[in-house]
Amino acid sequence: MGRQAKRMGGQEPVGNSVPFDTSVPHIARVYDYWLGGKDNFEADRVAAEQVVATFPDVLVSVRAQRAFLGRAVHYLVAEAGIRQFLDIGTGLPAGNNTHEVAQNIAPQTRVVYVDNDPIVLLHAQTLLTSSPQGATAYIDADLRDTGKILAAAADVLDFSQPVAVMLLGVLHCIPDEDNPAAIVARLTAAVPPGSYLVIAHPASDVTEQLSQSMGDYNKAAAAPLTARSHAEVSRFFAGLDLVKPGVVQLHRWRPGTEDVGQARELANYGGVARKP
Ligand SMILES: C[S@@+](CC[C@H](N)C(=O)[O-])C[C@H]1O[C@@H](n2cnc3c(N)ncnc32)[C@H](O)[C@@H]1O
Repeated sequence: MGRQAKRMGGQEPVGNSVPFDTSVPHIARVYDYWLGGKDNFEADRVAAEQVVATFPDVLVSVRAQRAFLGRAVHYLVAEAGIRQFLDIGTGLPAGNNTHEVAQNIAPQTRVVYVDNDPIVLLHAQTLLTSSPQGATAYIDADLRDTGKILAAAADVLDFSQPVAVMLLGVLHCIPDEDNPAAIVARLTAAVPPGSYLVIAHPASDVTEQLSQSMGDYNKAAAAPLTARSHAEVSRFFAGLDLVKPGVVQLHRWRPGTEDVGQARELANYGGVARKP
């Protein structure tokens, strides 16, 4: 184990979280509230409710995102043969975390989780319940710090073998000035051919409601959020081969029976692509 990765029985990670300030809303806790969780504070709940008031679909959208996560991981393990995941912007533990879905199918799967929220760090133990055949680890790091993430993840993942890089609901936390496309490119450059990239990202071009609501949220939040268009989200997959049906509203990506109706619009894009 390196200094940064934490496993069952491993060392404590070196702290790199955002400041633990409960007086301003943080996306991990706000998202937890929308999902019906209990790991949130008054400021998070107020901000979350304000978004619900102006953009009620957010509640459907976050559940559809978790369902997309489950379908994407199922596809990668059961159909694409992936046995390693780097899940950045993990969020607070919710039902069907990446390692649970993956290890149900292939117990030997190895999963490294990364988040920069101190509350997620506190609950990391729930993410470290690996099957004995596989492994899970947690890295306390910022998505922008790809060097740190890749170095620590290499203690658990074999970067000579395919890895699925998961960026679900986190790239919108990186503003354009921090060049999110370059961050994605550094991550996909570090994994071998046959690896995959999965993205879920709020859409700016489905309904005006979302951008207006996000603008209000940003006035109070610790870190601003950026919704992006279909073209902008698609560009994150540059140089990779998109798995059908491509970048779509994520409830329409290989839908399962648990999903919301296909006819409705959801301002949330999802896509999966393979590194050739
Ligand atoms: C909306 S939640 C998404 C959770 C999960 N991936 C999902 O799809 O259900 C976003 C998570 O990304 C984390 N996050 C936000 N900005 C980050 C950054 N710069 N580096 C690492 N994690 C970040 C937040 O703390 C939060 O836990």
